[in-house]
Parts: sequence; C-alpha cells; structure tokens
Amino acid sequence: MKILIRPDAPAAAARAAEIIAARLRAQPGAVLGLATGGTMEAVYGRLIALHRAGQVSFAGATSFNLDEYVGLAGDHPCSYRHYMAEKLFDHIDMRAGAAHLPRGEAPDADAEAARYEAAIVAAGDIDLQLLGLGQNGHIGFNEPTSSLASVTRPKTLERSTRAANSQYFPDGIEPPRIAITMGIGTIMRAREVLLVATGAAKARAVAQVVEGPVSARWPGSVLQMHPRATLVLDPAAAAELELAEYYRDIHPD
Ligand code: F6R
Repeated sequence: MKILIRPDAPAAAARAAEIIAARLRAQPGAVLGLATGGTMEAVYGRLIALHRAGQVSFAGATSFNLDEYVGLAGDHPCSYRHYMAEKLFDHIDMRAGAAHLPRGEAPDADAEAARYEAAIVAAGDIDLQLLGLGQNGHIGFNEPTSSLASVTRPKTLERSTRAANSQYFPDGIEPPRIAITMGIGTIMRAREVLLVATGAAKARAVAQVVEGPVSARWPGSVLQMHPRATLVLDPAAAAELELAEYYRDIHPD
C-alpha cells in the first residue's frame, strides 16, 4: 500500500484527481471504477477543472460506479446516477452510454446485480478503481463481515451508514436499507485502486485498514492484499496511524 498524506483535504482531492487524470492520459480507453459520497465531490470538482483546462479527456473512457440504492430510479434526486450526473458526467466529455451504474429500479435486485457483475467482466474489469471509506471501514457498500471474495450483490446497509448518508435525503426521508454494490472480490480484481479518506471521522477506520489485521471486520483492510493500492489522506484522517511519520518520509508527495 502506498500511503500519501497531503497537507489538507483539498490537496488530497487534488492528488487523487491527478492520479486519475494521469491514468487517462496514459490509457485513454481506461475502465474507471467510480464512487459517490462527500469525499468524492472535491475529487470530481478537481477533475472537472482539469478537463476544462484541457488537461484530461474522458472521451475514450468507460466507467462503472460502485453502487446504487435499491428502489431509486436513475432520475431520482437522491440516486447515485443523479449524483454522478450533477457532480461529474454533465461537466465532462464522457460518451453517452459509457457510464454504468446498477439500475436501482430493476424489479429483481439479485438479477440486476448479476447483470452488472457480468458487464464489468465483459468490459475486461476495472483498470482504476476509486474508493471512499466508510467510518465502519466499508468500501463500496461492503459492510463489516462482507465476504472478502464477494461479487456484486444487494447488501443491507448498516445503521451508521444510513445515518451518515441521511444528510443527502430530504428531512424525514431515510436512505433505502438496501443497495446493490460491487463486491470486495470485484474491487480486488481492479488493476489499481485509489482510496481517498479525509476528516477526523475516518481516522479510526484508516488506522484499522492500513495497520490492523486483514479482516472482514474492517473490509477496506483487504486492500493490504492488493498489488497496487494507493491511499490518499489528509492529516485528520491519518491522525491515528502509528507509522504516519514513516509514510511521510517515504512519500513526501
Ligand atoms: C459510495 C461508496 C461509499 C462511500 C463511503 C464514504 O459510492 O461506495 O463507500 O465512498 O461511504 O462516503 P463519504 O465520502 O460521504 O464519507
């Protein structure tokens, strides 16, 4: 694992965006795995700025998002399809039809998850997978005790995850209990993974994921087994790392 601790959250987002842009410059037809959530808003903001400055094009890329809420159609304002359009897709040059998310409104969530997994395999798997990190250590919506070999499937969200995500829903409306998420096995097949975590609320999970044992208790810890995993952190998220000074020494940037 490569641990990059940047001076603040905007610098962490900028570094992550630069890694994605560098991948697209080197491999314009890359298959990207994308994430949603608060952390990603800054990353996508930087990617849009790089695109507007003519420094990155998504014209040849394909993308697969990690997850989508079951029961929400793509045009629902709280769906991840809607989030992606608003935060990224509407502002870049990605081809229509090249951006994939699970269909939350599909009548059979199990069948939709299987279809989505097959589509990822058919695309040759993910070249670069972007990940956020849940306070409980989840990656995608693979909550604690998810099988480390899991593939895309419907997953019941933990109470803490729904509480964290309720800010994106209108007052009095709770996030759905179930989401379709790429599995941990799906994520681990990606050729490169890039996890971004910022803020003090992530510090415990980051410490467990980086320096704890590999365990389904903290699903992100499986990235210790990935041959090419980079974590980009701000100082608050890195605060509980025992070896923070070592990471700073070996990767000053
Ligand atoms: C979102 C996703 C989640 C989030 C994680 C962190 O597609 O898969 O794993 O990345 O919950 O969310 P934020 O950034 O809102 O703290």
